[in-house]
Amino acid sequence: MTQTSARTFVPGSLRGELAVPGDKSISHRALMLAAHGTSPVRITNLNPGRDVRATLEALLALGAVCATDGGDIVVSGGRLRESPAPLDCMNSGSTARMMLGLCAGANIRARFDGDDSLRKRPMEPVAAQLRAFGAKIRTTDGRMPVEFLGTPEIQTTHFILVSASAQIKSALLLAGLYAATPIVISGDRASRDHTERLLQYFGADISWDGKTIALKSTALTPRDIDVAGDASAAAFFITAATITPESAIVIRNAGVNPTRTGLIDGLLAMGAAIEFRNTRTVSGEPVADIAVRHAELHATTIGGELAVRAIDEIPLLAVAAAFAQGSTKMTGIGDLRTKESDRIAAIERLLAAVGIAMETLPNGIVVRGGAPQATGRVLETEHDHRTAMAAAVLACAAGPITIDRADSIDVSFPAFIPTLQSVQRP
Ligand code: S3P
Repeated sequence: MTQTSARTFVPGSLRGELAVPGDKSISHRALMLAAHGTSPVRITNLNPGRDVRATLEALLALGAVCATDGGDIVVSGGRLRESPAPLDCMNSGSTARMMLGLCAGANIRARFDGDDSLRKRPMEPVAAQLRAFGAKIRTTDGRMPVEFLGTPEIQTTHFILVSASAQIKSALLLAGLYAATPIVISGDRASRDHTERLLQYFGADISWDGKTIALKSTALTPRDIDVAGDASAAAFFITAATITPESAIVIRNAGVNPTRTGLIDGLLAMGAAIEFRNTRTVSGEPVADIAVRHAELHATTIGGELAVRAIDEIPLLAVAAAFAQGSTKMTGIGDLRTKESDRIAAIERLLAAVGIAMETLPNGIVVRGGAPQATGRVLETEHDHRTAMAAAVLACAAGPITIDRADSIDVSFPAFIPTLQSVQRP
């Protein structure tokens, strides 16, 4: 799906069953960990978006051997080596930050670059933590392009996280893994634990409790990976069904890892009707079929660990809050300013498009619930996939919304529009 022209999303309830693509976060990690081992790993349900392609191509450039087989990808890994060309991380912060950790651990010199959006995003926090590990890293005023010049000697293996970032935590774990060095990380705030789970699935001696992670042994026994459905992709449909009268859907095979269910917990606190069915474990990750019905919502407060567990879904919680009775306060979300776009500003534009007011706090927002009604104004997405899809969700219950362009959706969920159309009754 490539649509660089305006696109209008229509109102209508959601009914029936659907599936979402493989999880983007798990897919990046699956590729990187598979590339580390020497025996082939088959990955099923890899996320088909552009971000994960950026990781795959970076690994190929470093000498990993990957083959497609049916819908699966088989990664043979082995010895990685320097790439003469810079690694193009495109729009993907996960690729840039985690691949930097991998290169730091493997001691493979590399240059990293990305698109205009990625070039604006902070790289200094991950660089600073990897410098403590011993890596020599040069950023461009704290941003991309970034050059990794080698890890002459490991300086420390005990880290205190400077932010609640799962990407930085994972960069440090990958550095330790490639350098065959046990690692201890404290200061985690229950950010997504997919790297920890995959390492455990591969037989590593690793423990974590939402605060501290200890990777004791780096010897791995790679196994095939079936990637769980993307919790953040499911989130669009969960929110749309919740706010749109007469909706009732089931999302099959969706990841329900507790470090990713902040949106669901926030919506349940607002009165949503969401139920997990047939919960099971797939390649070390909890997966369920998620049943959602329309519900009348009331305001809540979102902050602390819940905000970390919902970090990519805060725009959707704001959309839900627009339909809730009362004012919903969300704090601890300052990091949204440095995502694929400034997502606090994006929330403000989304809500303005349906006549809902929002107050901005130093580290948060307050959304005043009401009766959202599309104003007909074209919404600028700033080429952010999550803003484009959030606009489609809002349109389900508030009336037609036109966005400037929809091609950013390819970053994580190329089949989003047909999937929405398959369950929507306009
Ligand atoms: C991700 C972590 C989060 C999230 C991003 C994916 C990951 O970023 O916003 O979409 O896969 O680890 P931070 O690590 O910057 O919080």
